[in-house]
Amino acid sequence: MKRAVYQDEINIVNLHISCYNRHMQIIDHITATFQETFGSAPEHIVRAPGRVNLLGEHVDYNDGFVLPAAIDRATYIAFSPRNTAHSTLVAVDMNQQASFTSQTIPSKTQADGSTLAEWALYPAGVMWSLNGEGLSTPALNAVFASDVPRGSGLSSSASVEMAFAVAWQTLGGWTLPPMKRALLGQKAENQYVGVNCGIMDQFASACGVDNKLLLLDCRSLEWKTIPLPEDVSIVIADTTVRRKLTTGEYNKRRFACEEAVRLLKQDLPAIKSLRDVSVDEFNRLAGELPDEVSKRARHVVEEIERSNQAEALLEAGNVVHFGELMNQCHVSLRDLYEVSCFELDVMVRVAQSLKGCYGARLTGAGFGGCTVNLVVRKEATTFAQTLAEGYESETGLKPEIYITRASNGAELLR
Ligand code: GLA
Repeated sequence: MKRAVYQDEINIVNLHISCYNRHMQIIDHITATFQETFGSAPEHIVRAPGRVNLLGEHVDYNDGFVLPAAIDRATYIAFSPRNTAHSTLVAVDMNQQASFTSQTIPSKTQADGSTLAEWALYPAGVMWSLNGEGLSTPALNAVFASDVPRGSGLSSSASVEMAFAVAWQTLGGWTLPPMKRALLGQKAENQYVGVNCGIMDQFASACGVDNKLLLLDCRSLEWKTIPLPEDVSIVIADTTVRRKLTTGEYNKRRFACEEAVRLLKQDLPAIKSLRDVSVDEFNRLAGELPDEVSKRARHVVEEIERSNQAEALLEAGNVVHFGELMNQCHVSLRDLYEVSCFELDVMVRVAQSLKGCYGARLTGAGFGGCTVNLVVRKEATTFAQTLAEGYESETGLKPEIYITRASNGAELLR
């Protein structure tokens, strides 16, 4: 028995070592590409993580509470200042390059007049929103790469935004608190890229703390860390399914929430957002709302109620009850918010049937991507393997499953 427990610990330590090695490889790779492309070594390296969210899904834009953690997958940029007007960026994962200046970005074009590629809108958007605050964004040469899978619900976009915010901070001669950088990243995504996201992803990528969960009040923007119980692991399971055109669906959900507030105001004039509606009040008034609006709003009101309980439960070490809330969250995202899909449901169902699983649910916006699982630490590697087999046998798809570690937020490595 003891041997088996030690073996599990060894497996987890080995996983963290291989993650560290992968990051060293990414840094070596972007450094070598930088040298080849620009003819010198990069002066700096920056890193900004993706995130996973444990509870409080689709509530950040309703002033609710979220409980994410920055993860040990990140975007890395190798960069140096340059003496020309335009910044040149090489996206290793796309094998593409873009050049732009403060003058060309308002029209979303490159220095040569061509349209910016989609991936380049994120760094250009960050430049745009920093410039909007009067902050200087000196021209840079940059090569970047990431091991946050794109479109997987782990906030690869926010990690790119927060990495570039730190890069420009390094060269710009100004310093902003991490939360302010997060808000400017969100502004870039809302107003420049055109995705109406809330604050959670940029916040987690900017403010992450090693080995800790983050509890954010999305109304006051006050936040604190919450320790993850020691004998518990966070396991991320990527269905490998990527949905297209999810931005429209996301924005529709936001609109339904706003519509619910508008209609509920007739009876509850003081409310500003769904955060201000209790479950009892909602139950009393839900009948007055159109069906779809009522389903969406019920998810939000009940999810805010669930996430309200998170802190006390985790501090009391009541992982069992916390895991039940995660399971309830998945049902609600599936049936009321309707942002799940067949593959996510299979991944969650198989996970919940396995030994050592406290809770499992889709994480992030949904429509594909990843699930998050809270698992007894000594069962985590067996859990990951059995989950992969179960998922593959039902869907024919090979998932990617990993035990993650909560990590620090965006930082200059050198
Ligand atoms: C996306 C958005 C976040 C949040 C989640 C759902 O990740 O970027 O702001 O709304 O979806 O919780």
